[in-house]
Formats: sequence, structure tokens, C-alpha cells
Amino acid sequence: MTERFLTGITTTGTTHLGNYVGAIRPSVVASRTAGVESFFFLADYHALIKCDDPERVARSRMEIAAAWLAAGLDIERATFYRQSDVPEVTELTWLLNCVTPKGLMNRAHAYKAATDVNRAAGGELDDGVSMGLYAYPILMAADILLFKATKVPVGRDQVQHIEMARDIAQRFNHQFGRGRALLVLPEAQVDESLATLPGLDGRKMSKSYDNVIPLFAGGAKGLREGVARIVTDSRLPGEPKHTEGVALVAIHDAFATPAQREAFRADLRAGLGWGDAKERVVRLVDAELAPLRERHAELLAQPQRIEDALQAGAAKARRRCAPLIAELRDAVGLRAVRAPASSPRSAPGGGAAPATFKQFREADGRFRFKLVDGDGTLLLDSEAFDDARAAGQWVKRLKHEGPGALGDAPVALAPGVEHARVVQVLADLAALAAGAADA
Ligand code: TRP
Repeated sequence: MTERFLTGITTTGTTHLGNYVGAIRPSVVASRTAGVESFFFLADYHALIKCDDPERVARSRMEIAAAWLAAGLDIERATFYRQSDVPEVTELTWLLNCVTPKGLMNRAHAYKAATDVNRAAGGELDDGVSMGLYAYPILMAADILLFKATKVPVGRDQVQHIEMARDIAQRFNHQFGRGRALLVLPEAQVDESLATLPGLDGRKMSKSYDNVIPLFAGGAKGLREGVARIVTDSRLPGEPKHTEGVALVAIHDAFATPAQREAFRADLRAGLGWGDAKERVVRLVDAELAPLRERHAELLAQPQRIEDALQAGAAKARRRCAPLIAELRDAVGLRAVRAPASSPRSAPGGGAAPATFKQFREADGRFRFKLVDGDGTLLLDSEAFDDARAAGQWVKRLKHEGPGALGDAPVALAPGVEHARVVQVLADLAALAAGAADA
């Protein structure tokens, strides 16, 4: 199965070095890697949980989008979008809300942190807790499950949310899957060395700790001022320095080659002063960021280019998730009204004959298949394959995985056939196949 990477950045502020190192830079690499699919998005619904300043949310969406594009995200290959441009996210959130136990959300870190503060202050436990904050992990699960992500690169603080997404997906599959894995269980991918860049005070660099170094804001000067404020100990130039667990060293390392890392440590141990060390960090980081900063400024001067990229990305994202949403709606019973039939509807004795796949060889020697409904309507046409086995394997996947395989399969809808009908037929076939396997 192809790996699918997915990650989001909450749009509540300007981007900082931690976002760049932990999310933006690795995602740019992933977007350029052949053989993996990747999804990157601006988590602007998440922003509303923490931020009630509309201007700030709007500005942040634009700046973070520009940062991602300036860093070189390959938006032809990857799918890059704003969460709120994909209404299927909120639709799936609701379906997941209905299978998620309230008790699971009681354990979420963000909620517990809020109640801990209230408890310490002697107030009502739920003071200031909105339903958005409380159910935040369900929205995040929807982000991930909607695109069948297999790998979610995140900071350590987010690992619990990925585990909750797995838990919720399992419950959903159990309840509605009739033996099929409708939702794919994701895994967190934490790069220990990078995912939690320390901030000015040594804690994780984070907007909520107010310890960030801006990525582009303030230009090269902003960077220099930021680095100057990194807390170091009071050892003087000439005195040997510790290099373990030192924020300045970790920030240096995130931009350095192995040889540069070694040299920096050796020089600090030999007495390099913190002031000179900081100057070196500024030069190193700026060498990587200066060209990006320029592109970022260009993009902000032409917001329409950003908007166009995001609109195209949203359309692509919606195409990608449409088959799954249709399948899920069907699975929970949100179906078109039709005469009741035994379930599954095309089961033997249930009335209509089941749809069938037909494989054939063309005059040019190549292989194709089609899906034909019980009433003879042509539903799907495949591409031509050189190899009969490749065609056969797609037929097998479509039969067993149902509409879940539709997004990947090299097939086209027959003219005039509605997508929803094909989804329905494939869901029935998969249910039949699962039934046959059980029997
Ligand atoms: N909650 C994440 C954060 O604050 C952002 C986010 C939202 C996310 N949805 C996601 C990250 C889905 C990974 C996958 O950092």
C-alpha cells in the first residue's frame, strides 16, 4: 500500500522556526518524494478553538500558506489545502462524534490542562472550556481519517491525538464496517531529533509558551534579535561550555551538517563565547532562510496566487475524499430512498442481480475490465493493461475493498453514471465478498 503522509498547522499566529523545522521543511521533502502521497493543510477550524480574533486567523492563514509555498512545497504532487475549504472534514467530524465515547475526550491533554488550571484556581472544572476545545481530537481524527493517512508527522505533544484517531477509527470500523476496514488506522511519526525544536527558554518552541523565533517576520533582523534572546548560562568567553540539552545547540543542529555540529560542539567546549556562538547560528540559519524569505515576501505581495493555489488544492482534496465520504454515508445508513431490500441489497434472493466485473482482451492485445450493474448498465471502464494479472488484481481489490479502492483504481465512470451509484454498487459487492468470506 502507498504511504500517505498528512499534517496540518494551526493558523493562529505567524510561523516560527519550530513550525519550519518540525512541519514545513519535512513536508516539503515529502512532497517531492516519489512513491508517497502527501496532504498538507492549514488547520483553520482548529484555529477557531483557540483564537477569537478573526483578523488574526485571516492573516495567519495567508502567512502560513505563503510560508509553505515559499519553502518549495510541490503542490502538483502533494495536496495542499485549507481545512475549512473541505466541508467533508466537518461532515466526517460529526460521524466520528457519534461513535466517540465522551470518556475518551475526558483524557485529552488540552482538555485536562484546562481543567487542571481551573482546579488549581479552585473554580468550576469546565470554566472556559468550549465544546470545540473538548472535542478537538475528534476534528483532528477527521482530518487524518478523511484522507486515509497512514503516517502523520507530528511533534511529541500530538501523539496522543493520533492514538485517539486510531481508537475512534477502530470503533467506527467495528460498528459500521461489516467486516471491512472503512477507515485506515494512522500512525504517528515523531522525528525525535527535530520534531520538538526548543524555544528561547529551552521548552518546546510554541506559540503558547511565547518563546518563539519568527520564521520570516522582522526579516534577517528579526532572526538576529530572536537568536540573541535564546537563554544561555552565564559562562564567559574562554570558559568551556556544556553542549548537552542546550537550546542554542539544538537550534544550530537543526540547520547544520553533521560536520558543522561536531565543530560547533568542539568550539564551545574549547571556550567559544555565547555571543560568537549566536552569531554563527544566525549566519547558518539565515543562509537557509534568506532565499525563502524573499519568495515569501513576493507571495504576500500577490495574494491572488496564494488563493488560487489553495482553491485548486481544495478541489483536489475534495475529489480525493469524495469516494470515502460516500462510502461512509452509505455505511451509516444515510442513503438514497429506495425500496427496502434484504441487506446487502444485491444478495442472492434480495431481488436485483448483483453487479459483475467483466475482464476482456482487446484487439491490440491489451487487457481491460468493466463493471456492469445487474440491469446491464455499464458503470466503470478500466484503463488498458499490458498484463492480465494487473487488471485482475484491480478487480480483486475493488471487489474486496469496495468504494475504498475507487480513488486509487485506474478506472473511469461510464458517461452519465453517477458516482454515488457506483459507490453503492461497490459497497454491496464488498459486503457480499465479506459475507462469503465469513460463511
Ligand atoms: N493539532 C495540531 C497542532 O496543534 C495541528 C493539526 C490539526 C494536525 N489537525 C491535524 C496535525 C492533523 C496533524 C494531523 O499542532
